[in-house]
Amino acid sequence: MGLIMGLANKFSIAYGMADSLKRHGAKLVFTSQTQYFKDKIADIVSDFSDHDTFVCDVSNDGEIERVFDDILSKVGELDFIVHSLAFSDKNELIGKYYETTRSNFLNAMNISCYSFTEVCRNARKLVKNGGSVLTMTYYGAEKVVPNYNVMALAKSALETSVRYLAEDLGEFGIRVNAISAGPIKTLAASGVGEFSKILAYERTRSPLQRNVTQRDIGDACTFLLSDMASGITGEILHVDCGSNIIGVKFNNDN
Ligand SMILES: NC(=O)c1ccc[n+]([C@@H]2O[C@H](COP(=O)([O-])OP(=O)(O)OC[C@H]3O[C@@H](n4cnc5c(N)ncnc54)[C@H](O)[C@@H]3O)[C@@H](O)[C@H]2O)c1
Repeated sequence: MGLIMGLANKFSIAYGMADSLKRHGAKLVFTSQTQYFKDKIADIVSDFSDHDTFVCDVSNDGEIERVFDDILSKVGELDFIVHSLAFSDKNELIGKYYETTRSNFLNAMNISCYSFTEVCRNARKLVKNGGSVLTMTYYGAEKVVPNYNVMALAKSALETSVRYLAEDLGEFGIRVNAISAGPIKTLAASGVGEFSKILAYERTRSPLQRNVTQRDIGDACTFLLSDMASGITGEILHVDCGSNIIGVKFNNDN
């Protein structure tokens, strides 16, 4: 049994994960940011879960702990948790990074990065020894990507926290990893300025000459959460059609 946090609709990366995990026999339970989102995803969730979705806005103090306690009492211990959520004001995902406001900087860091630390702290009670926790990151944490701006800083901090949290939770037998996914069209991604240009660029840059699919990411997620990955923790696994290995690539215009 595992928890998925961050399913907004059928285009969500979390949907591809749920689909793959179901195909491989996992039982699932979900959290949703608000009651509104919970109602919107009710039909989707019913395909994957026998449990009611728990509402959890990760930006509220103490909410992750309260919801995890609730899950423990209603569902029992879990084998894994997937943290597939992030947020920035979309007005700051276009133009210069230095225009980022303090309030959006703190909010983006809080929701997109700190929430994962809180998830891991509370995972000690909820996840079995031998279980694992997974989050989602992006190449913009490593190299400059136009308009990714404050989200890049949040992802860099998130990637560092994956390593520290892997060390912290190792003694409880809990593995902590991240998938660095190539760009894929979702609600959150459509908030990044000129996102369709990034998608098109990746199709020519990546060795596989295509964009990643929900299935690519979902199946990698299932692998990392499964016992097949029992010796892997603190790892950032690129699922990006190989794009991150390219330094320079000529196209027809060069
Ligand atoms: N789409 C991409 O190109 C891409 C690439 C790499 C990594 N990612 C990451 O994948 C993850 C999932 O995003 P997605 O692309 O599937 O988009 P999505 O819009 O489908 O999912 C984002 C989720 O974040 C949730 N969320 C936002 N603020 C929240 C809060 N305060 N409390 C609880 N939940 C909150 C939303 O409700 C939504 O379910 C994010 O971490 C994103 O940064 C996306």
